[in-house]
Amino acid sequence: MFVVGGSASQRLSKDLARCLKARQAKVEVKRFPDEECYVRIDEDLDGEDVFIVQTSWPDKNIVELFLLQDAVRDFEVASLTTVVPYFGYARQDKQFKPGEPISARALARLIQTQTDDFITVDVHAPTVIDWFEKAAAKNVMAYPEIGRFLKGVGVQVILSPDEGRWDNAKRVADVVGCDADYLEKERIDGNTVIMTPKNLDVKGKSVAIVDDIISTGNTIVKAAEQLRKHGARKVVAACTHGVFAGNALERLRGACDEIYSTDTIENPTTCISVAPQIARMAKD
Ligand code: R5P
Repeated sequence: MFVVGGSASQRLSKDLARCLKARQAKVEVKRFPDEECYVRIDEDLDGEDVFIVQTSWPDKNIVELFLLQDAVRDFEVASLTTVVPYFGYARQDKQFKPGEPISARALARLIQTQTDDFITVDVHAPTVIDWFEKAAAKNVMAYPEIGRFLKGVGVQVILSPDEGRWDNAKRVADVVGCDADYLEKERIDGNTVIMTPKNLDVKGKSVAIVDDIISTGNTIVKAAEQLRKHGARKVVAACTHGVFAGNALERLRGACDEIYSTDTIENPTTCISVAPQIARMAKD
């Protein structure tokens, strides 16, 4: 069994190889002067069960993923599982206006043509899985690992920034062994929205805001500011996918005591591995 790690997912592919007791394939990835990508797998993969691990964000990593799939398909592998830890474009999961593509579907349709199985993690729109008609697709949940990590840092309340993600916050809280709540938005006037924990008093408490994606950071920064106003002693943020567009990380560091993310996107806040959950799903 081999794990082929793309350049966006080096750390996770090493951890996954360890969890699966698989070998990490030697892979050369380089860019030509015009930025086109070159890959070469320096292994004999004939007869092997192979996992490619590559996050499909930003765009250049999508092309690398397709090249890795093509290279693996040239061997006579026993099976190919494509693991896309962060499935980019999942937020465009429907046509919001006529003439738009369903970007998540476009990506799913292309990835599935070159794989037997497909695994992703905390995909933003669960419908993405249904678009894999030619490959067996699964969505792994990161909450057990995020919960175990937050238990270790001693938080007292898990908060979802909105009602939509409350289920996930509850699951994380169950692992930590603490309470969960969500922030309820109330519009005061055209310019003012206040957010209040729906049921719990956070005064003097150490609170973790948990979300699937942090992109611009606006959601978490606003939530952290409101929690401080409500007297929270410590505010940390944890997410599965740390996209951190533009100067998001800088702003988040100003608003929160700590920022934690998983290895679906490798960045300076990555401290939680989803490899055990992917390995568990792969063996199912
Ligand atoms: C929304 O549905 C998601 O769960 C996140 O809350 C959102 O993507 C965060 O985006 P941003 O960091 O840009 O506020």
